[in-house]
Amino acid sequence: MSGSSNTIDYGPLQLLIGRWEGNKGTDLAPEPEGEESTAYYETLIFEDAGTVTNAEQQILAVLRYHQQVNRLSDDKAIHDEIGYWMWDDAEQIIMHSLTIPRAVCILAGATYVANPTTTDRVELKVSAKIDDPNWSIIQSPFMRDKAKTIAFEQQINVDATSLTYQETMVLDIYGKIFNHSDENTLSRCRN
Ligand code: HEM
Repeated sequence: MSGSSNTIDYGPLQLLIGRWEGNKGTDLAPEPEGEESTAYYETLIFEDAGTVTNAEQQILAVLRYHQQVNRLSDDKAIHDEIGYWMWDDAEQIIMHSLTIPRAVCILAGATYVANPTTTDRVELKVSAKIDDPNWSIIQSPFMRDKAKTIAFEQQINVDATSLTYQETMVLDIYGKIFNHSDENTLSRCRN
């Protein structure tokens, strides 16, 4: 990794850098008989991680992040996620790699489409599918057989003070296809 954060062009990822907190989250998760909706709060931290060069050709500007999610009713930790967002300026591609401690990994990506009217607010949209040759999903044998993630879609809208996201993980679990979804709105913290 190389580069100093104040000279690197993180493109549309730049606004993500910092610490965010929000307590208006809603999770919809599968149950053997039906579904469970959970209200949650979370902390999301993005740090600039410099650049990498791949095959002496592709240059990626990289952010590293950590998301910690707790249930509002009893503070129980219900989700933990680490990963990277990457920006390929030459090809205008955004990529999001993530790992969760259920033994599931995703590499989602998309060509970035800039908002023609403003740079103050950015919309990031990425997706992955288990059988997609470009953006895909890896999981343990147990998860593949019992709680398989087959698709992922995520949209983040971010500006100087506010970050909103929606994401859907399509699961094959309990003999049904279930849209496990999450959404929250977070505010930028000063520290
Ligand atoms: C804010 C984000 C997320 C929250 C709050 C969340 C929360 C939850 C909750 C509460 C459950 C039910 C657990 C249980 O029944 O004991 C669950 C299940 C699951 N989640 Fe998530 N999740 C999030 C994101 C993700 C992501 C990004 C993935 C995939 C990479 C994922 C994959 C799964 C899977 C496969 C299950 C089924 C496991 C099971 O119920 O046995 N989740 N999640």
